[in-house]
Amino acid sequence: MGNAHPTIIIELLLVKFGIRFVGVKLGILGLGTVGTGTVQLLQDSVGRHPLLRDVEIYRVGVRSLDKPRAVKVPDAVLTTDLEAIVNDPQVNIVVEVIGGLEPARSLILKAIKNGKHVVTANKAVISRFGDEIFTAANHAGVYVMLEAAVGGGIPVIQPLKQSLSVNQIHTVTGIVNGTTNYILTRMQTEGSSFDDVLADAQKLGYAEADPTADIDGLDAADKIAILASLAFGGRIKLQNVYCEGIRQVSKTDIAYADKLGFVIKLLAIAKRVNVSPITPSLDHPISVRVHPTLVPKAHPLASINGVYNAILVEGEPIGQVMFFGPGAGAGATASAVSSDILSLVATLQASTTTPNPLLTCGHQDYCEITPPEELISRFYTRFLTKDQPGVIGKLGTCFGKYDVSLESVVQTGFQGELAEIVVVTHDVQEGDFRQALAEIQTLEAIDSIPSLLRVL
Ligand code: HSE
Repeated sequence: MGNAHPTIIIELLLVKFGIRFVGVKLGILGLGTVGTGTVQLLQDSVGRHPLLRDVEIYRVGVRSLDKPRAVKVPDAVLTTDLEAIVNDPQVNIVVEVIGGLEPARSLILKAIKNGKHVVTANKAVISRFGDEIFTAANHAGVYVMLEAAVGGGIPVIQPLKQSLSVNQIHTVTGIVNGTTNYILTRMQTEGSSFDDVLADAQKLGYAEADPTADIDGLDAADKIAILASLAFGGRIKLQNVYCEGIRQVSKTDIAYADKLGFVIKLLAIAKRVNVSPITPSLDHPISVRVHPTLVPKAHPLASINGVYNAILVEGEPIGQVMFFGPGAGAGATASAVSSDILSLVATLQASTTTPNPLLTCGHQDYCEITPPEELISRFYTRFLTKDQPGVIGKLGTCFGKYDVSLESVVQTGFQGELAEIVVVTHDVQEGDFRQALAEIQTLEAIDSIPSLLRVL
């Protein structure tokens, strides 16, 4: 933050001299899916971090003022003049959620030049112009935050920048494109062809009318370039990312892979090559690539299905850590965008006298905790009983008396002379279940209850 912009210096001085920086003004560029989700989240701060209340949606830039919208924004806040937002001295943080390369890139650069922090969900701009953008941001002394650019709602950027930053990362492997994962999952489960599933996915809205960026792996390439840059601490030229999509994956390949114990996934991989476990070296180059891959069924990424994303990070000393969740969608992406906004608000408000509210634990009140007997869950119980007529009936009667509904009762076999009976309940109140069990234990036919487990 060597050459901090004058507006940032003034803000910091205001905080330092006790003139608190109360409201942080946002200029949001774009009110599409991500913009709408973000505005909705920011307008509904109840039950979320109290810092959200310090955020003011000051301006929202849109293409047309007349379009019907899923979210209420006062007329005075809406504008079609996006340049005016990034030039407005009142705006502290610019949130770029218009997507695409231009005018997004130019608006981000102007916002930075004007001393504004930036939050963006734009993987295409960051992967192509990250060099230009971060050089400008470092020069201006502002932050550019991009949690939403990779993995939608999955927190992976901040963990790579902070929580995992002490590790020597050697591999990042991701399923970072929901559209292709949805298509491959359906090809696998239905035995259908790529063309049939793609056509249906387009009809259902899971794939774009022009699906090129997704199915040819370009979207995943943008994302792994960003992850690789963070994991390996250097910039990545997008043209050096090898990229192969899923058009060539046939149902025959999927069937053979299945027989051999694999599933086919579009993996985005960034890896330090030729790392020897005996003589590990950080000087080795890295490979960054996207291609369909046979993944052993026991691998953690094999069970990531449908539109979900997951990113497996491997390093020393952490070993393996996997991030999983929704890779797209209004709410998920809004969660990532808003968390970046909150980090910036905390940074703007922190000073030598006021600690960073995201790093402190300032809770004053105790949470109300429900006692276990009031909890609702399903139970699995194994009984050892005498092998005589009417035992299952007695168990059922006793459970019924205490309002415990049974999902299944099976006699699984014998242990010596004793019959083994396994019961799974529906959702029941734990207190009712315990009362029923206490009574069952007094039955003459019951020998013991060796297992009692909760069912998810
Ligand atoms: N098109 C992307 C996907 C979501 O299918 O995962 C936005 O990054």
